[in-house]
Amino acid sequence: MKAVIAEQIGTWSEVLKITDWPPIEDLPPKALHVQTSACGMGFPDLLQVEGKYQLKAEPPFVPAASVTGKILAIGAEVDPSAFKVGDRVAGHAVADLSGNMRGGLSEEALLFADLAVHVPDFINDTVVLSMHDNYWDVHHAISTCGQVGPEDTLLVLGASGACGMAAIDLGKAFGAKVIACASTPSKLKACQRAGADQVLNYGEDASYEDFLAKLKENDLYGKINVVFDPVGGGYGEAAFRAMAPAGRYVLFGFASGGTDPKSAFPNFPINLLLMKGQRIIGSMGSSRGAKITEMFQMVKEGLLKPGAGIQSDSAPTYGLENFLDAFRAIATRQAIGKVVVKVESKAASDL
Ligand SMILES: NC(=O)c1ccc[n+]([C@@H]2O[C@H](COP(=O)([O-])OP(=O)(O)OC[C@H]3O[C@@H](n4cnc5c(N)ncnc54)[C@H](OP(=O)(O)O)[C@@H]3O)[C@@H](O)[C@H]2O)c1
Repeated sequence: MKAVIAEQIGTWSEVLKITDWPPIEDLPPKALHVQTSACGMGFPDLLQVEGKYQLKAEPPFVPAASVTGKILAIGAEVDPSAFKVGDRVAGHAVADLSGNMRGGLSEEALLFADLAVHVPDFINDTVVLSMHDNYWDVHHAISTCGQVGPEDTLLVLGASGACGMAAIDLGKAFGAKVIACASTPSKLKACQRAGADQVLNYGEDASYEDFLAKLKENDLYGKINVVFDPVGGGYGEAAFRAMAPAGRYVLFGFASGGTDPKSAFPNFPINLLLMKGQRIIGSMGSSRGAKITEMFQMVKEGLLKPGAGIQSDSAPTYGLENFLDAFRAIATRQAIGKVVVKVESKAASDL
């Protein structure tokens, strides 16, 4: 079976190899064994290979935690009324019985059944991987935490990232005016394809002062009701200062810190919260169950367009053969949206 293996923890460009790897034989009791159709990758997958992510993986392991495919077998403790062989699912990769993660960069993978979801026929692989888990997490962030609605102007930082794209799409679906901020013209174009009403280029290393000045030039100062912030740092501080009275600041991540997230903890002047009646809300949850079904239905009705931002004639395509290009795009801040790697299995699938 073809698989990309991290034989040891280390620099991604040195330790990852494509190789023949033994098929999965012994199934952990709470796992689904799937024939991989595609996997979605982001910065955490790269950090995991380098041993810098909070969830450690024991080498040798197959990277890429977000996976979609068809079920080949079901673990002994999985509710048989919930899943059956042949179902199309998406979920999180887990380790095999030897403790080695079996992720999506392989013809077969293992998923944690409790967090797996059925994928309806009208949802293609790019769409479901653009949604998994970003739409579940961002739905919680901007709906439950940010309470975004039709009266609101939503400022999305890191808007061309996997979660930023979800925030643009969900923000529009909730009726808000969405301002998307990203660092390059091609990323801003992707944000427009994803549905942003207005885009702002904050540059790759804009200072807090430059970004604040840009928000003022664009007549946004004091007019932003909700900020969705997956990047932190100076970008976050400028956005915080530009919030309207009673604004809600949803703190979601610190991507601008790269491998040192602490360096991107924003320095907020909290006296403004008091003076302007504003709130900072940390978001670390996920909308699940009925909300996921609702989001799939919204895709069917054209109310959500996951993956719209990454679909263009010039968008790169990735497969197992050029998996290193996918890692390179993530490592060099070139990736747009969720990086989707298609996996063509040699095994005949008559499921
Ligand atoms: N709280 C939660 O529940 C939750 C859930 C999922 C993810 N997260 C966190 O949210 C953050 C974003 O996740 P994501 O999946 O959207 O990541 P992503 O796809 O890699 O996007 C991150 C974005 O951050 C921007 N960025 C700014 N400075 C950067 C830097 N120095 N290096 C790399 N990117 C930089 C990039 O856009 P520009 O180049 O345009 O700035 C990029 O598009 C991560 O920190 C992640 O851990 C939180």
